[in-house]
Parts: sequence; structure tokens; C-alpha cells
Amino acid sequence: MATDEGFDVVGLSCSPRKDGNTDIMVRQVLATVGKPGVKVEFLRVADMKIAPCDACWTCAKTGQCHIEDDMSALYLKLLKADGIVVGSPVHMGYNVSGQGQIFFDRTFSVWHQKRLKDKVGGCVAVSNRRGGTSVIRAIENLFSNHQMIMAGYASGYGIAPGDVLRDRRALKEAEALGERLGDLMRALKRRAGP
Ligand SMILES: Cc1cc2nc3c(=O)[nH]c(=O)nc-3n(C[C@H](O)[C@H](O)[C@H](O)COP(=O)(O)O)c2cc1C
Repeated sequence: MATDEGFDVVGLSCSPRKDGNTDIMVRQVLATVGKPGVKVEFLRVADMKIAPCDACWTCAKTGQCHIEDDMSALYLKLLKADGIVVGSPVHMGYNVSGQGQIFFDRTFSVWHQKRLKDKVGGCVAVSNRRGGTSVIRAIENLFSNHQMIMAGYASGYGIAPGDVLRDRRALKEAEALGERLGDLMRALKRRAGP
């Protein structure tokens, strides 16, 4: 039966490659969590104009980032969300993509007042062969910095766009992550009461 639970989940792919493996995995998580009453939104960091943090530290005093770009709208979406899924391909040094790191740094302005606290987070990583664990750890560290609640992770393998569709284990992990995100959001709401 359809219920209106009123949850919002934002899924962010940090891959520069549109419709690549990370996009596919993040969408898979959203497809599973996106039951009636759960509003999901898929976004690509590389499609937005997001400048790097200039380390001005203004946000430590004001709680606001002085840079005017697409991050302004993204802050609002993140603050409104109950769940946030972040996915990245493994790039050089077993790190998140450059676009991903720029986004991570720009969340500094909402970190000071822990404005993402208690949101449920899901991590997604895709690699050709090595580094998935490092990228999952980097995303977990981001969530942990923000005092978010970890729902878990899904990692997949592939080189060319779409390869991950043949990684059945990865797709199953993505589905399980979506389920867990939903379960945790519901459990937290029950705990908070009506
Ligand atoms: C700049 C760059 C660096 C990469 N470094 C690694 C790496 O260190 N280890 C690895 O297993 N794959 C590496 N890859 C491969 C990607 O992780 C892989 O192709 C992945 O499927 C890309 O996901 P996407 O389709 O979402 O972009 C690299 C790819 C690029 C473009």
C-alpha cells in the first residue's frame, strides 16, 4: 500500500563521465530506496559549476560559503534531505574524482554547525581493479565528519561505461544499500516520534 512517508533522498554521482558506472550504481540505490513516499533526486556533481574551496574560513564565522555558484542550490537540497548517497569512481591515488573532492571541501560551510548531522548516508565506489575500499573510506570519512549515520556501501568493478551492469554482486549491494537507507530513515523517524 502506498504511504506518504515524506522522505527525501539525494543521490550524487561524482563521476565526470555521464551515464558511466558510478551514475548507474547511484541510480540503482535510488531505485531501491525510491518507494512510494520517498522522493529521490539524482544529481551529477560534474554537471554543476562548483568552484574549489578557497580556504577563506569565512564560513567558520558565518556558516555560509561566500562563493556564489551551483553549490548554493545544492546546500539547500542536502539540508532538506533525509538521506544522501555519494558515489565516486576511483581516480588517481585511489582517491575520489577531482570533482568529488571539490564537492567534499565545499561542505565545510555546513560542517561547523553540523547541519548534516543524523542524515543517513550511503557510499558508492566504482573501480577498474583497485582502490574501491579507499574511496568508500573517503566517503565514509566525509559522512563521519558531518556526524551522519552510515547506512553502508556498495562497490563495483568496470572500465567502460555500463560494465558495472555485468557485476551482479555490485548491483545487489546497491539494492541492499537502498533498502538499508530506507530502513534507517524509517527507524530514525519512529524514534523521533510523530
Ligand atoms: C583519471 C582516472 C584514474 C583512474 N584510476 C584508477 C585506479 O587507480 N584504480 C582503478 O581500479 N581504476 C581507476 N580508474 C578507472 C575507473 O575507476 C573506472 O573506469 C570506473 O569504472 C569509472 O567509473 P565511471 O564510469 O563512473 O566514470 C581511473 C579512471 C580515470 C579516468
